[in-house]
Amino acid sequence: MKYLVINGSPRRKNTWQIVEEVKKNLDKQEQNTYDEIELKDLELPMCTACYNCFTNSENTCPHAQIIQPITEKMMQYDGLIITSPVYTLNVTAHIKNLFDHLAYIYHRPQFFKKHALIIVTTAGAGHKKVANYMDESLENMGYNQRYRITLNHNQMNPLQEKTTKEISKTANKFYQATKNKTLKSPSLKALLMYNVWRAMANNKTTQPDYQYWTQNNMIEYEYHPDIPCSILKKIPFKIFYKIMTKILK
Ligand SMILES: Cc1cc2nc3c(=O)[nH]c(=O)nc-3n(C[C@H](O)[C@H](O)[C@H](O)COP(=O)(O)O)c2cc1C
Repeated sequence: MKYLVINGSPRRKNTWQIVEEVKKNLDKQEQNTYDEIELKDLELPMCTACYNCFTNSENTCPHAQIIQPITEKMMQYDGLIITSPVYTLNVTAHIKNLFDHLAYIYHRPQFFKKHALIIVTTAGAGHKKVANYMDESLENMGYNQRYRITLNHNQMNPLQEKTTKEISKTANKFYQATKNKTLKSPSLKALLMYNVWRAMANNKTTQPDYQYWTQNNMIEYEYHPDIPCSILKKIPFKIFYKIMTKILK
């Protein structure tokens, strides 16, 4: 199995300690390779709000040379492990800057068959909130299942037995989903957001969105056709999409 590890911490310390623990657990299952991206070393400039990714194409982002290899790896590899320590009750600037560069994927979601593991550490507060934000962002990009490990200092220095057991349990769940390519029905929020972007694409809010949704055979469905979702669950979103399309027109 091949994993992409995106480290949102500017150092390899508390959060990285958990990454190593996760890797140890994943390697018990089978031999893996890890492609590790240190965001701090990327020299990725801040998003300039040029809107090129939204209105032209992601290839015209002034930082596409840095961003495109990351999104290619996100698509190509089996699983994503992404980390952030809590900084002033939020993600690090490195993660936020990366997500800003990936905002176009909210409009043109793509990682429907992918799974991610989110790792967040904190001195005491904000870890749930930060994990929620990262989870929401990845869900908006299409990620089918997101697992999370959130820890504070008193659970980490040193790692307690109870904590290592919990890490092992979550790593194993992430492994099973990634290995078996298990696809779960989307959440109601994912369905709602999908149909917002879908209606916007249908309205040709931007040409790249319209092209993406039509070329990928997504515009006709209440959720991506390859992801299981009952007809009953989709019905309200069929109606929502119709209303939204009318409003936009
Ligand atoms: C700039 C900065 C801001 C931080 N803000 C918070 C915070 O708001 N709440 C908190 O509980 N811990 C905060 N911390 C502590 C880190 O979240 C915590 O030590 C984390 O485990 C560090 O992970 P790392 O070793 O991977 O950098 C902050 C640390 C730094 C450097």
